[in-house]
Amino acid sequence: MQQLIAPFIIPQNRFTAPVIVTGAGGCIGSWVLAILHHSGVPVVAVDLHDDRRRAALVMGEAAAAELNWQCCDITDYAPFKALIQQHNAQAIIHLAGLQIPFCAANPARGARINVEGTLNVLQAARETGIKRTTFASSVAALGFPAGGPWKETLYGAYKVANEQTAYVYWADWQVPSVCLRPNVVYGLARDQGMSSKNTIAIQAAALGVPYEVGFAGRLSWLYAGEAAAAFIAAVSQDGEGAYAFDLNGSCEEVEQGLVELRKIAPDAQVSCSGTPFPFPPDLSDAALRAHVPDYPSISVQDGIKATYAAFMQLKAEGRLPDLPV
Ligand SMILES: NC(=O)c1ccc[n+]([C@@H]2O[C@H](COP(=O)([O-])OP(=O)(O)OC[C@H]3O[C@@H](n4cnc5c(N)ncnc54)[C@H](O)[C@@H]3O)[C@@H](O)[C@H]2O)c1
Repeated sequence: MQQLIAPFIIPQNRFTAPVIVTGAGGCIGSWVLAILHHSGVPVVAVDLHDDRRRAALVMGEAAAAELNWQCCDITDYAPFKALIQQHNAQAIIHLAGLQIPFCAANPARGARINVEGTLNVLQAARETGIKRTTFASSVAALGFPAGGPWKETLYGAYKVANEQTAYVYWADWQVPSVCLRPNVVYGLARDQGMSSKNTIAIQAAALGVPYEVGFAGRLSWLYAGEAAAAFIAAVSQDGEGAYAFDLNGSCEEVEQGLVELRKIAPDAQVSCSGTPFPFPPDLSDAALRAHVPDYPSISVQDGIKATYAAFMQLKAEGRLPDLPV
């Protein structure tokens, strides 16, 4: 899958010591691992379990097998801090978390992982002197203050808590951080969460099975490689302050995305219905791009093409997973 990663390769000398990536087994984490590894930057993958399936999809099985993978629960402070010290890490990209449906299904566990977990990352950065920390908030944080146009969720409430916690860590203890609020991420390895359905439509086209996306209208299409590149850019320099930025990618109607898909997969039986996704579809990335080193911007057309081609390659290799349930 070298062709997937090639646009995102960074100069190796942006980092002089390892980067810790939490939530490494997830979608964005897999892309972050792939980009850093193929750029020659040492990386330490941290997740609950040693599950490299998504990483192997994005970077290939051989490269995924080479990764330094550490099992650690982010709610467990002491082992996480010890990992940073053992590896003499320079940066933390914190992606571990539970998404909207999982927080709704188990609110207390969602709070422990999403709120306490992020607190642990900031505290570890404080105690180890890390000057490069980025973490994932979400566009769902913009559901607050309540009563506005966007959906309020527990997940969004937890992400607001993360953003405000990071502010206090800078104000009181000068722990710098860059918080990114990704919108709807799509691409290879996006297989769970309520906003994964446009990716699943592309996978269904590759599998030759019908699929209906349960939302329609204007949507943020944030290519997974672009999202990962933004997180890497956010820790490519020492921080000064606690910043929070939207990370939107491109805005396009779901309907038009499916038109693009049918251009390259004319037999695809994909459709969409329902109301638009309940979060703002067209935020600006200008503030983030002004703050960090440049990273690629991937058009919806190119992102869908690359994702479909990757699914087709996996199919040819007999490695294309079934549709997620
Ligand atoms: N994918 C999106 O569209 C999107 C949009 C907005 C924000 N985000 C945020 O970006 C981050 C990464 O998203 P993703 O799509 O890669 O998520 P994902 O669900 O694919 O992966 C999350 C990873 O976190 C790990 N994890 C869960 N609990 C953990 C714990 N206690 N300790 C260590 N690891 C744990 C999981 O095992 C999983 O591998 C999350 O914080 C998510 O809320 C994602």
